[in-house]
Amino acid sequence: MAKIIYFGTLLFLTFLLSVSGDAEVTCVFRESCLLPCQFQDGAQLVIHWIKVSIRDSVVHSYYGDKDQLEYQVQNFKNRTSLFKDQISKGNASLLLTGVTIEDAGRYKCYTSTVRGNEESFVNLKTEAPVSKVIIKEDENQIICSSEGIYPQPELSWSTIPPSNTPLNVTTTVQQNEDQLYSIRSSLVLEDDPDVTYSCTVRTQRNNMTSTYRKPETSRHERMSIGGPIAGAVVAVIIIIVTVFVCSKKNKLKSFFVLF
Ligand SMILES: *[C@@H]1O[C@H](CO)[C@@H](O)[C@H](O)[C@H]1NC(C)=O
Ligand SMILES: *[C@@H]1O[C@H](CO)[C@@H](O)[C@H](O)[C@H]1NC(C)=O
Ligand SMILES: *[C@@H]1O[C@H](CO)[C@@H](O)[C@H](O)[C@H]1NC(C)=O
Ligand SMILES: *[C@@H]1O[C@H](CO)[C@@H](O)[C@H](O)[C@H]1NC(C)=O
Repeated sequence: MAKIIYFGTLLFLTFLLSVSGDAEVTCVFRESCLLPCQFQDGAQLVIHWIKVSIRDSVVHSYYGDKDQLEYQVQNFKNRTSLFKDQISKGNASLLLTGVTIEDAGRYKCYTSTVRGNEESFVNLKTEAPVSKVIIKEDENQIICSSEGIYPQPELSWSTIPPSNTPLNVTTTVQQNEDQLYSIRSSLVLEDDPDVTYSCTVRTQRNNMTSTYRKPETSRHERMSIGGPIAGAVVAVIIIIVTVFVCSKKNKLKSFFVLF
């Protein structure tokens, strides 16, 4: 038992040691990202950027004073570059363009010169922030949706004034082949037309809110039911007043002519 605990602890410590030395970099989907690496410059320089996984893959190589990309794996083609003016300063940082969610992982920067070999690691995380939240009415429901998000987002509703019954909400999440999430939520409309609905989509990095309120015209629909009645009442009053005024002035005849 003690042995198991001992080996477990040892494994865990090894894991901590190997991970804690990594530079942490968060890259945004479709944008460019810098993977830092420094080394002691010297003659006969070789640089290999390797993506560490079950099977290591070559991300970028440099030797003989130039890029050597014949062994570069397909999904990094045309997306990597070193800063040539920086190499002689011991800077082997890699620029990665058009970041995809799959780029996440651990990268090794290996350098070798006549002065020796060095290794450093970059732990790359990827994310796609919430960029747009669409809210719209569809029959007796409000639909809120957002897409192209990573990691998995959360969605919440709120109303003004606050609702005293639980909101009737149905939310679904989907992930596409680029690993990006889309989220969609429908809410059954309250009877009260004066409620304002807000939908918030969030990831750890950011959040966005869209708000929906029934348009002015449909909020006053109830008024129009009373419309004809009010109109009739007003008409009757006008007739009575007219009749009264006319009869007083003894011009009843001209009043009937009006009709
Ligand atoms: C890389 O860029 C070259 C020239 O711009 C182009 O011909 C080639 O198809 C690109 N390769 C990939 C994998 O996108
Ligand atoms: C390495 O070069 C890149 C590109 O010029 C720069 O952004 C980065 O700060 C440099 N790193 C160091 C440690 O100087
Ligand atoms: C929520 O709305 C759905 C669809 O309109 C309806 O079938 C369901 O009964 C509602 N649930 C509650 C608790 O009101
Ligand atoms: C939402 O984003 C704002 C900045 O835009 C931030 O201040 C706030 O804490 C975020 N709220 C939540 C719940 O994440």
